[in-house]
Amino acid sequence: MLSWPLFVLCLLFLETQGRSTENILEKTLEDVERLRALVLELKDNVSNQDQRISDLLLSQTIDRARIKTLEDGYKTLISEKNCNPRVPSDDGIRKNRTRDAPRKFPSTDDIMYEVSATEKRETENVIAFYAYMSGDFVPGIKHTIPFDTVITNKGNGFHSSTGVFIAPGPGYYVFTWTVRMTHGSQHSLELVVNSSVKGASFMRTHDPEDQTITATAAVYVNQNDDVYIRTHGSYAYNAGNIRSDTYSRTSFAGWRLA
Ligand SMILES: *[C@@H]1O[C@H](CO)[C@@H](O)[C@H](O)[C@H]1NC(C)=O
Ligand SMILES: *[C@@H]1O[C@H](CO)[C@@H](O)[C@H](O)[C@H]1NC(C)=O
Ligand SMILES: *[C@@H]1O[C@H](CO)[C@@H](O)[C@H](O)[C@H]1NC(C)=O
Repeated sequence: MLSWPLFVLCLLFLETQGRSTENILEKTLEDVERLRALVLELKDNVSNQDQRISDLLLSQTIDRARIKTLEDGYKTLISEKNCNPRVPSDDGIRKNRTRDAPRKFPSTDDIMYEVSATEKRETENVIAFYAYMSGDFVPGIKHTIPFDTVITNKGNGFHSSTGVFIAPGPGYYVFTWTVRMTHGSQHSLELVVNSSVKGASFMRTHDPEDQTITATAAVYVNQNDDVYIRTHGSYAYNAGNIRSDTYSRTSFAGWRLA
């Protein structure tokens, strides 16, 4: 039979043991909770990092494509330059350039600029024509001048059979016409755009002189508008020969401004 004091001691002992077990349990739960939070955070971080990696891979692909474009453009430029060196033809200058000031490797900015300039040059829809009369001509009034020899016809707007330029595209154009007259001739020449007169030139020559006049106009032109040079509608301003030979061409040219 346990004595009373011993029984009390036993109770105390059990009580202490129980409390410490409870403490350990509580601490373990806290640890588990902390680890759970950490795992969640890590999971989050891993998914963020996955996202960043895939972003980086994407931007790397884009950068590679950009570099490829730049390299291709640069190669084109180099080969163009080799076929078509823009350095002065003077040998002395060329030698001095190579020896004294070797060309520095162009910076990325230079390349970017030149590549975009090349692309622009290539994609630009150039419209330009230049034609002249193959020989002399004695026109009447309101007669379209027959510029029958075509030297340039980018955009195919000029029609040598009629001497009429039919604008392949709309825009601001510059037109210039040059007319040579033999001694004693006089002519008023009109620039006609879309049926209205946009410019005129007049010259009267005196025996025994030949003379040449050039006039220029910048005009807005719609697509498919007709543009041509004709003589004035009155005989008072038109008489005699318009000359064109190898020494001086009676010509008509036009181009669209970029
Ligand atoms: C999770 O990412 C954040 C922000 O980058 C960082 O501060 C934290 O330490 C990371 N957590 C772990 C467990 O690596
Ligand atoms: C090339 O350099 C030499 C020596 O510096 C100079 O005398 C000569 O005039 C230069 N030639 C040209 C074409 O610049
Ligand atoms: C071209 O002519 C037509 C008819 O005369 C006119 O309506 C039109 O405005 C003209 N266009 C230009 C660009 O002058």
